[in-house]
Amino acid sequence: MPQPLSFQLTLYPQPVLRKVAEPIRAFDAELAATVRAMFDLMYESKGVGLAAPQVGLRQRILVLNETGDPAQVEHEIALVNPSILERYGQTTQYEEGCLSFPGIYAEISRPERVKVRASGVDGVESVREYEGFVSRIVQHEYDHLEGVLLVDRMSAADRLRHKVALEELKARYQRATAAGGR
Ligand code: CO
Repeated sequence: MPQPLSFQLTLYPQPVLRKVAEPIRAFDAELAATVRAMFDLMYESKGVGLAAPQVGLRQRILVLNETGDPAQVEHEIALVNPSILERYGQTTQYEEGCLSFPGIYAEISRPERVKVRASGVDGVESVREYEGFVSRIVQHEYDHLEGVLLVDRMSAADRLRHKVALEELKARYQRATAAGGR
């Protein structure tokens, strides 16, 4: 039996958040444990989505549950090695947050629909289309796998509005690294 995993959130500006994540090659018990631990941390953090770089892993894995409710397992989606084949439909604006940017929210424009090819935890590949809130979460988490962050997508006005909070996150990271932390 593999050890149960327990992750911590990686916060902006930890460098792993800027790396392009690598494809998963082994669909094994370790992958299943990683996905489970990502869901656990997501629920614990009151999130609706989480990408592997946010737990310090350069791996192409994302998980989401649009309800944020661990009891509603039928809404859990785990995508391994996802690629976005098409973004389409009307562009909509919606306020997004990100667990790597605590307390920071911004209106982000994205197309309403997305077509994604991905594997499940079992390695079975499929193509699916998502719309509305689920599509938005998929696009946000997919950005993480490409090293693209909320701060890149927000308007210049929002970047200015959140300047102090962003500087505080950077200062916190610098203090942690100076203290010999991550
Ligand atoms: Co995020």
